[in-house]
Amino acid sequence: MPSLYDDLLVEPAKFKSFAPRIFSYSLVTSTNEVARGLIDQNAGDGTVVVADSQSQGHGRYDRRWESPLGGLYLSLLLTPRIDVAHAPLLGLLCAVGAAYTVHQISQEDALLKWPNDLLLKGKKIGGILSELVIGQEPLAIIGVGVNINIVLHDLPPTVRENSTSLAHETGRKFSLSEVLLALLENVDKLLARVEASNSFDSVLAEWRRLSATLGRQVVVTGQFREVEGYALDIDELGRLIVQQSDESEVIVSIGDVEHLSM
Ligand code: BTN
Repeated sequence: MPSLYDDLLVEPAKFKSFAPRIFSYSLVTSTNEVARGLIDQNAGDGTVVVADSQSQGHGRYDRRWESPLGGLYLSLLLTPRIDVAHAPLLGLLCAVGAAYTVHQISQEDALLKWPNDLLLKGKKIGGILSELVIGQEPLAIIGVGVNINIVLHDLPPTVRENSTSLAHETGRKFSLSEVLLALLENVDKLLARVEASNSFDSVLAEWRRLSATLGRQVVVTGQFREVEGYALDIDELGRLIVQQSDESEVIVSIGDVEHLSM
């Protein structure tokens, strides 16, 4: 079956940090699962799996990720660059790249909700699912889903309530091939900066600038216990630092954030 991305022309030589090798499909279970299968066949850094829709798209905590036609669904294989401890930062990097891409194509300001949600006008427009595979070399599978041309009625009511799409907010339709190319270029530029400085500091700075979470009262669930407090900062590994009402600080590495009112 042909895919919407079959016409995509990528010139790997124009990329500084990775050479994209694109596998495009009309329908897959989940691009992350296809990418995992390709690792078993020796696929490596720069492999991109993209699909027009997914039958079993999933998000963090194995939640279903609704994947009707019109969304961008891709998984990118990346080696962790500095070292494996920094692998979680690749998810933040791709979230920054996705926010840049939304702005580049639509002039809309997407913001980031810790750890890796993309918000537009306070509603979820995208998310990132990072997984780490430790084989011959460690490889991160970064799954990116963004509601680009999705018609909100194609989402179940419970999801629709808190979600939006770029087409819904702008009244325009976008070429998914162009969006994919812009995203890969933005991720490449961010990675090239990481490599040049041997640090993720520039990514962390951009994540902070685009953050909808920092500076707010939040409740974080999903770690050992619920943590409530003021979202102070992220640390050098992208973990969220929450200041509780008694001024003590808790560092959260995984969890779901709820933004409380300002
Ligand atoms: C989340 O918000 O929980 C993360 C959502 C990640 C969805 C993307 S779509 C492409 C890739 N394939 C999947 O099954 N999930 C990710």
